[in-house]
Amino acid sequence: VTALWICFQVEWKSVTRLCHSKPLLTVNGEFPGPNIAVHEGDNVEVKVTNRVARNTTIHWHGIRQLRTGWADGPAYITQCPIRGGQSYTYKFTVKEQRGTLWWHSHLAWQRASVYGAFIINPRMPYPFSASIQAEVPIIFGEWWIADVEAVENEMTLYGGGPNSSDAYTINGLPGPLYPCSNKDTFIQTVERSKTYMLRIINAALNDELFFSVANHTLTVVEIDAVYTKPFTTTAIMIAPGQTTNVLLTANQVPDSSSMFVMAARPYLTSVFPFDNSTTVGFLKYKDTSPKKSNPPLKPYTSPPYNLPLMEDTVFATQFSNKLRSLASAQYPCNVPKKIDKRVITTIGLNLQDCPVNQTCKGYAGKRFYASMNNQSFVRPSMSLLESHYRNLTTNKLSYNFPEKPPNAFDYTGVDPLTKNMNTEFGTKLLVVPYGTELEIVLQGTSFLNVENHPIHVHGHNFFIVGRGFGNFDVAKDPAHYNLVDPPERNTVAVQVGGWAAIRINADNPGVWFIHCHLEEHTSWGLATGLIVKSGSDPSQCLLPPPEDLPSC
Ligand code: C2O
Repeated sequence: VTALWICFQVEWKSVTRLCHSKPLLTVNGEFPGPNIAVHEGDNVEVKVTNRVARNTTIHWHGIRQLRTGWADGPAYITQCPIRGGQSYTYKFTVKEQRGTLWWHSHLAWQRASVYGAFIINPRMPYPFSASIQAEVPIIFGEWWIADVEAVENEMTLYGGGPNSSDAYTINGLPGPLYPCSNKDTFIQTVERSKTYMLRIINAALNDELFFSVANHTLTVVEIDAVYTKPFTTTAIMIAPGQTTNVLLTANQVPDSSSMFVMAARPYLTSVFPFDNSTTVGFLKYKDTSPKKSNPPLKPYTSPPYNLPLMEDTVFATQFSNKLRSLASAQYPCNVPKKIDKRVITTIGLNLQDCPVNQTCKGYAGKRFYASMNNQSFVRPSMSLLESHYRNLTTNKLSYNFPEKPPNAFDYTGVDPLTKNMNTEFGTKLLVVPYGTELEIVLQGTSFLNVENHPIHVHGHNFFIVGRGFGNFDVAKDPAHYNLVDPPERNTVAVQVGGWAAIRINADNPGVWFIHCHLEEHTSWGLATGLIVKSGSDPSQCLLPPPEDLPSC
């Protein structure tokens, strides 16, 4: 076990993309931020110093934070923000996890530019046979010409409106399909017949993405830092918050060009003015022949043939059905076989009348909110974890998140414009005792929404034991659950027009944010919190808060 000491300075840096320069919030002046690499079992300490005149926090997305919820990072959930001039040291141990995760700011929409990979190198060899020549982080993001804070304010104030970014990016680079971006193109050099592991992260704010590489297949071996049964595919789908490791063998014989295009584009286009363009990078084969050098890059105009089309739900469904836990003797699948509690919650958008004298940009002159069981989460002005730990109560906070939808939800029968439309505002949390085997059924309402909701749970991994289209049927569906090798992850993309059932072993005492990883939906309230109480044994208790924990 080694201790790792890392310094993060949150600071402004002028960055130019698409021929526009703007001051960007960064870590250590880098965009994207630094990639962190640790070993399984390491003690990690990251001192974050805030050098800007606005609040910030950093979240270690997917790190379990066993008993160290103070280091999780979501603002007002586990900590008060780090104010300008202050610093806070995140201290945690990377226990029994290995693979690709990431870190990002967890305040407002700051993760638009404050993000990077968090790579946990395994202690044991990979459970798949491949000699890997190199491991390559591939991080998707979005680039906004406008000030992201202004975009976010417009979203929250008017409940809708223009919110699209100006480009998707691979490792911060838009690529040649965007104006003025030829020189900002990601290029990965490979050697013929060698195998590479791509550590793919979707850090985009608001879009699920398809990704493929021309003439090459991808073998999926890991999702959200959990090994999977390997399978080979021509493309992957990845939601914001998710990570996917794939193996790629450079098995092509480059002829006229030594470059093969890789590309990512959003799953969704329609109703809103979302982007429908594509970020492109290249695989460049090293020329091993002594005579000729690589020919110059040909002008490039179209994405690879194997990139799925927009809203290819068939591909998306087939892809997610292929994801299975490894479930081997060395890496068993610890899915709860029976449960202590089942919570059924709708997830979706809501419409509210526009306040008088205001303009709303949602739908039909109204404004959007979003909710779980018609509760729109209101972020408190103190740290929920601290309130919980110190037994503080306020009149706004309550521990009674509704455990089923207020109106029996019917995807087919209910006119969503008249039912299921209203939402209440508050900070209602779900509370369970230590060790609860919990099932949460996430029922998408698909109301005014045509994309999947990537639901992320902090502090725990979960098992996706079932999913389906239409209504979840408590009498029939559980009989068809996969309790053998369901995928284990920290973010599930609940398909539009359907539901997903996840099982959690609630073995991590603390307060854990549960939310849609589409940033606009979190802003509108698609979130709740899970409180796992401390157990009776000292080893089942939340540790005391660190001394430098910021106060509100
Ligand atoms: Cu990736 Cu709540 O975060």
